[in-house]
Formats: sequence, C-alpha cells, structure tokens
Amino acid sequence: MSSNLRKPLIAGNWKMHLTLAESVALAKAVKEGSSGAPGEVAVFAPFTALSVVAEVLKGSPVKLGAQDLYWETHGAYTGEVSAGQIKDVGCQMTLIAHSERRKLFHETDEKVNKKLKAALTAGLIPVLCVGETLEEREAQRTFKVLQTQLEEGLKGFAPTDLAPVVIAYEPVWAIGTGKTATPDQAEEAHLFIRKTCARLYGEAWSSGLRILYGGSVTADNVDTLMAQPNVDGALVGGASLKKDAFLRIMHFKAPANAK
Ligand code: PGA
Repeated sequence: MSSNLRKPLIAGNWKMHLTLAESVALAKAVKEGSSGAPGEVAVFAPFTALSVVAEVLKGSPVKLGAQDLYWETHGAYTGEVSAGQIKDVGCQMTLIAHSERRKLFHETDEKVNKKLKAALTAGLIPVLCVGETLEEREAQRTFKVLQTQLEEGLKGFAPTDLAPVVIAYEPVWAIGTGKTATPDQAEEAHLFIRKTCARLYGEAWSSGLRILYGGSVTADNVDTLMAQPNVDGALVGGASLKKDAFLRIMHFKAPANAK
C-alpha cells in the first residue's frame, strides 16, 4: 500500500448485475460496513440504479460512480449518458476504459481520451483502466501496451488537470477468471505505471497518483496485494457483489511495516 500521500481506495464494480432492490440492499450493507475502513470506499453501480443508490449513500463517505460515460455534453446520442448527467444523479466518480468496454465495445484510446476530458471537465473523479491481455503478456508486450494506453489516454492535459485521476491496473487475463496477478506481478506493473506517469506529467502528480489493482481480488488475496508499495487500492468485480466478501476487502489488513 501507498505512502501517506495516497489514501487507499477500495471500489466495487457491479457491472451489469442487480435489480433496484438488490442494489439498494447492497448499497446499505456497504454503507454500514464501511465504518472504520482504513481507506475510501466506492461503488460503481449500473446506470439504472444510480439514483436509488445515491439516495442510500447520501451523507455517507462511500462514493458513487458510473461505469462509463459519453464525451458530448448533450444532444442526439441515443443510449448514451453524459458526464453532467452522471454528476446530476449524484455520482462523484466514473470508470473509463474498463477492458470490457475496450474489448466488447471497441473503445479506442482516442475515445478514452475524450471521455477522460469530459469527466474532468464535469468535476468527476475518473478511474482510468489499463491492462494487457494474456497474449500480450506472453509476447512480453505488457509494458508497451501499458505505455501506449497511458500516453494516448492521458494526452493533452496540464498536470494540474490530472489531480483527481485514479488509474486501475487490470490485467485482462485476471478479470473474472479467478486468476489473480501475483503481488510481485501487480507491483511490477504499478511501478511501471507510476514511472510512466512521472515521465509524462511529472513526479508531483505521479507520486500522489492512486493506482488500484483489479482482477479477481478476493477476501483471501486483498491483504497481500495491498501490502505492495505501489498498490493503492482495489477495483473489485465479482467479489463486490457478495456482501461479506466486499466488507472484508474494504477492511483489508496491510502489514504496518509494508510501506
Ligand atoms: P473481477 O473483475 O474482480 O470479477 O475479476 C474486476 C473488474 O473487472 O473490475
């Protein structure tokens, strides 16, 4: 886990799951269970549930996020949702470029960059996801892929614009597969991301940048992942839908001497 500069963040990505009633019940459990958690907690609910979950989380420190957004502010874009609408429904955050968006919905780095600009302009905290596929890892291209995703996704900003940004390293081969990156693999990638960000926009930003790990995080592996110096939090999919597992993840225990 990070230095004092970086407050840990544990975030649940509910993906395309849960009815309204289920979302309300889980949000209540997260809100109650978050008391005494060592870091910040956030949930990324489906668009349909944002307003009811916002109501549950009102007044609590648990942050609410959308799973995606469109970069235009308004207009004839059937099916899309703008950053302003996401803010208006009560979100403080949004995911951008989750690998499922990149792969299944053809989200290019150019689109990702526009989404990041829109989120920051609207005052949302963006969680920008990056990560390599298994083929890319096996071909020793992990760093190259991360570098391109960061260079292109973060293009054209001033370092001060980027202050709210959070990055999530999510190796595609670890998402929903039960195959977690080892703590060493996660740390190696996170360190590379931090160094790349320092090269792109300076140490002042990169040293305070929170980098989350995502990919089959569970109650059993969260502590060792969070013990890594450059792992500042977790983006949790499957396990965030299970109340008890997510509560344990929120209350991770990183050894005090690990930082
Ligand atoms: P997982 O998903 O925890 O189910 O692997 C992580 C994610 O996609 O954010």
